Amino acid sequence: MTDDVFKQLRDFIYEKSGIFIPDNKKYFLENRLGRKVQEKNLKGYEDYLYIIKYGSDKNELNGLFNLITTNETFFFREPQQFDVFSGELFKRITDENAKSGRKDIRIWSAASSTGEEPYTLAMILLEKPEAQALKKEIYASDISEAVLSSARAGVYGSYSIRNVPDAYLKKYFNNTNQQYSLTRGIKSLTKFMKVNLMDDKDTKAIRGVDVIFCRNVLIYFDDKAKQKAVSNLYDALRPNGYLFIGTSESLHNVTRAFKPIVINKVIVYQKV
Ligand SMILES: C[S@@+](CC[C@H](N)C(=O)[O-])C[C@H]1O[C@@H](n2cnc3c(N)ncnc32)[C@H](O)[C@@H]1O
Repeated sequence: MTDDVFKQLRDFIYEKSGIFIPDNKKYFLENRLGRKVQEKNLKGYEDYLYIIKYGSDKNELNGLFNLITTNETFFFREPQQFDVFSGELFKRITDENAKSGRKDIRIWSAASSTGEEPYTLAMILLEKPEAQALKKEIYASDISEAVLSSARAGVYGSYSIRNVPDAYLKKYFNNTNQQYSLTRGIKSLTKFMKVNLMDDKDTKAIRGVDVIFCRNVLIYFDDKAKQKAVSNLYDALRPNGYLFIGTSESLHNVTRAFKPIVINKVIVYQKV
């Protein structure tokens, strides 16, 4: 890949997804896109650039998102945050909603990858006696169609489920040949959709949510793209709603529109 093609591809990817690939990571694009160039029998990366930039087939852009995103995830990842959600935060949210006559809870997993995060939230809600009488809505979204289709299927390998408590494994999964399929009860709580966090139109589809989990995706963005994503998340939250980002991520230099609060050593950002 020539430096010029690298820069053009890198800029195009950034413009469309917010994913920022620094100068020293040409090898990353070569690794991720090399097979596609071969598969399509193209002469080189330049031809691929031409197709995604000027071609009329929208699937090409989706294919690119599938290739360049990093989709690592697993059930009950960063469990302290789920504990805080299920304890103190759930109480705050439902108390406040009850005051205005609301009998529901609405959650958005905003870069859900193959679904482990929103399905973890579904299990947590189903296990909570206080949530039984509530209407439970979990929205889950990603920029990659490939991970969304895998999420909708709800079938996982042993790596993904390694932190699922035994009792939940028995109750919410059917296990055949090392494949763990989620029960319909869990799947029916979760609505998957394609949302690019950089896209105002996409994110407008979600409004009035009580909590957003947007974890381990901001790390792929630069500050400007983080600001764009976080401002879209802000608009999707109801007043005083809560945002979780990954434990290794920060909103420093990104926004002052959220008040960081600390509960049991976990930082949660509240919309102000
Ligand atoms: C590492 S996974 C995080 C999954 C889960 N939130 C977790 O913490 O385990 C990051 C996900 O962000 C998605 N992503 C990257 N850029 C995005 C964008 N602009 N809009 C929406 N999702 C994006 C990727 O497709 C990927 O599935």
